[in-house]
Amino acid sequence: MGKDVIVACDFAGARQTFDFLDKFGTARPFVKIGMELYYAEGPDIVRKIKERGHKIFLDLKLHDIPNTVKKAMAVLSGLNVDMTNLHAGGGIEMMKYALEGLTRPDGTRPLLIAVTMLTSISQDVMTGELGISGQLPDTVIKYAKNAAAAGLDGVVCSPLEARVVHESCGAGFVTVTPGVRFAGGDAGDQKRVMTPAEAKKIGSDYIVVGRPITAAPDPEEAYLRCVREFVD
Ligand code: C5P
Repeated sequence: MGKDVIVACDFAGARQTFDFLDKFGTARPFVKIGMELYYAEGPDIVRKIKERGHKIFLDLKLHDIPNTVKKAMAVLSGLNVDMTNLHAGGGIEMMKYALEGLTRPDGTRPLLIAVTMLTSISQDVMTGELGISGQLPDTVIKYAKNAAAAGLDGVVCSPLEARVVHESCGAGFVTVTPGVRFAGGDAGDQKRVMTPAEAKKIGSDYIVVGRPITAAPDPEEAYLRCVREFVD
């Protein structure tokens, strides 16, 4: 599995996104399109960014009954995205159906990554509000194992969890990790952060980097610094 840096394009619309992508000279980063941009602009934003030569992680976190997720995934697969995701909380059957929907007639498909427990969910909320017993880190691993059992390619997790996910689900199980900051950089609202070099050392397969690149004076230089520290 090739290591790569994914740039989170957390913009409100197409104009801001293309203003940002226009700042790149020759580099064509793997980009993440989330709900805000996708719901604002629709599938056309995916087609236009693909046309510019970028790989795309479509971060829509599907979660519904298996049949509905299968049909929705078939539509996303037709957009030719390279990676997409769902909530492991939808269960193993839903994840299996999602894989079926994603698989194209020629047998190819985008990578399918599961979200385990959202990082916004605390132990107290998981136990008291959602009624899930046990320790939160154990639930994260349980959900990761469910994703692996369903045949998914990996999970989104904190770089701090990447090692234990690989230990539990296999070295080939992909870890996609946000929460990355340059040494001495502003952590912003991220609580636990790692540098690209640390994420590499701990075994992340893909890092998702937003503001350290999108808010940099020279985004291409910041992106290339990430690549130098994480990939090379
Ligand atoms: O700007 P920043 O580097 O913090 O952006 C990180 C990206 O990763 C954002 O798109 C954010 O929504 C996403 N993400 C995250 N933490 C998670 C899951 C996704 O920061 N647990």
